[in-house]
Amino acid sequence: MSENIVWHKHTVDKTARAKALSQKPSVIWLTGLSGSGKSTIANLLEKKLFDEQFKTYLLDGDNVRHGLCGDLGFDDKSRVENIRRISEVAKLFVDSGTIVITAFISPFEADRSFCRSLLQEGEFIEVFVDTPLEVCEQRDPKGLYKKARQGDIKNFTGIDSAYEAPSQPEIHLVYDDNETAEQSAERLFELLKNK
Ligand code: PPS
Repeated sequence: MSENIVWHKHTVDKTARAKALSQKPSVIWLTGLSGSGKSTIANLLEKKLFDEQFKTYLLDGDNVRHGLCGDLGFDDKSRVENIRRISEVAKLFVDSGTIVITAFISPFEADRSFCRSLLQEGEFIEVFVDTPLEVCEQRDPKGLYKKARQGDIKNFTGIDSAYEAPSQPEIHLVYDDNETAEQSAERLFELLKNK
C-alpha cells in the first residue's frame, strides 16, 4: 500500500446506494477455459437482469484487455495482476451498488479467493463454467487453440498454462453441447434468483 494516505469515509455509502437501487450488490464471477462460453453466458445473463430493472455491469476479459489491462500479457504474473485489478474494480462497482458480472479465465484459485476476500460474506458468487477442454478446443471460436497447438501462441490456458478448477464454486454450470448458451444462461439466472 502507498504511504501517507488516509481513508475518507463518505456520507453516501454502499448501503445507501444499494437501497436507492433496491438491489443486493454482488459479483457474479464466471471462470472457465477460453471458449467455455463465459462471455456468451455473461452477456445473456446481463440482459436478463437488465430487463428486470437491475443495475448491472459486465467486465469481460477480452474487452478489459483493450484498456485497463492492455499492458498485460498471459504469463502467470500478468494473469495475477489482471485479476487483481479486476477484483479491485469489481469491489468499486459493488460499492456503487451495482451487480457486477465478470467473465475472465481467472485460472488461479488464489486470485479468485483474493476477490472473494475483498467483499463481504455472500457478495462473491463463483460460477464455474465447466466446459471440457475437448469441447472448447473443438469450438475454437477465435482459432486460438489451433494456433496454440501449432506453437504460435505460448502460455495458452489448458495447453501449456494451468487452469485450476474451482473446488467449491457457488454454482457449477456444465456447458457442453447438450444445451444452448441461452438455456445455460436461463439456468444460471434461476439459480441466482434462488440465492
Ligand atoms: S486471464 O487468464 O483471466 O488473465 O485471461 P482473460 O483476461 O480472461 O483473457 C482471456 C482471453 O484472452 C485471449 N487470449 C488468451 N487466453 C488464454 N491464454 C492465452 N495465452 C491467450 N491469448 C489470448 C482469449 O481470447 C481469451 O478469451 P476467452 O473469452 O476466454 O476465450
